[in-house]
Amino acid sequence: MQALSTVIEPELKRDIVSLKMVEDLRIEGDVAHFRFVLTTPACPLRDVIYEDARAAVTQVEGIRDIEIEWASRVPTDRRIHGTVEIPVRNTIAITSGKGGVGKSTVATNLAVALAQSGARVGLMDADILGPNLPTMVGLPLSPPRVVTVDGKQKMQPHDVYGLQVISMGFLMKPGQPLMWRGPMLHTAIRQFLTDVNWNELDYLIADLPPGTGDAQISLAQSVPLTGGLIVTQPQAVAVEDATKALVMFQQLEVPILGVIENMSGAFFGEGGGERLAAAHGVPSWGASRWTRRCAKAATAGGPWSFTTPKGRPARRLPRSRSRSRRA
Ligand SMILES: Nc1ncnc2c1ncn2[C@@H]1O[C@H](COP(=O)(O)OP(=O)(O)OP(=O)(O)O)[C@@H](O)[C@H]1O
Ligand SMILES: [Mg+2]
Repeated sequence: MQALSTVIEPELKRDIVSLKMVEDLRIEGDVAHFRFVLTTPACPLRDVIYEDARAAVTQVEGIRDIEIEWASRVPTDRRIHGTVEIPVRNTIAITSGKGGVGKSTVATNLAVALAQSGARVGLMDADILGPNLPTMVGLPLSPPRVVTVDGKQKMQPHDVYGLQVISMGFLMKPGQPLMWRGPMLHTAIRQFLTDVNWNELDYLIADLPPGTGDAQISLAQSVPLTGGLIVTQPQAVAVEDATKALVMFQQLEVPILGVIENMSGAFFGEGGGERLAAAHGVPSWGASRWTRRCAKAATAGGPWSFTTPKGRPARRLPRSRSRSRRA
């Protein structure tokens, strides 16, 4: 334990023993076994911690190796980490790893298709730094109204195509970049959950930014996600990144609802989505082809599923509403 107390947690910059991350230390033969409690199951620094711990412990005479059982305990400070209660029955996150593969397009069209099927649907732009949903749904960048609900001020989401929509795009000056670091993104994502006057939703669809970073972790730690939907283009480079996004969600214990291959067809080929789904034993939701109409729809500000209501993805969503999270 003394040797482990020299190991510094790379992010928190304190030693792992005083941070109470080491549990159940025992020596069996020449191997030190212990449980390491991470602050997030998706901790990207596992390997660094393992190597540092191993280097420290094998300095001790008679110890040749270490065996770590990884565990995680997400801190329960509700202001920063705990999950929030919102009047939403199913929250679905759209992610891809790679940028530009069609997350926002899929999120918008899925939301519209669900609304057309009679569900009450919210669409939340979790891409705080690069919000595209206002353009996707063709809404002007006007700030939401502030309403008072139970003595608390909340943002009223915009209504369009039968959806309730919130995006940082409505709150920023057009063309101005936000240069925010992780904690601010985390706060913004939580505010989009708690400080928006969501009106008893069957589905809240969250459109994530590219990457496997702060936004994905913040969303998954802020609200119990019903599931994640992975969007990929058919080519190997997109599938590589989508694989990381999928595994990240699995590490965050977000059930994978399925993989959608987008922009399938002549330009990018086909089959990457099917292969990704098969490799991870998750459902494939099939492919959405590259079409001129879809490309134009984003510019024109009107999701194509509004005029093509028989969108396939919507029929694949779980009908179960058992995961009710009503406040
Ligand atoms: N099936 C499709 N056919 C034609 N164009 C498409 C299709 N899907 C998406 N697009 C277009 O590709 C571009 C990127 O799509 P989109 O913005 O949805 O991707 P994204 O993954 O959300 O990107 P980002 O990572 O930047 O958030 C948009 O211009 C969109 O209109
Ligand atoms: Mg997007």
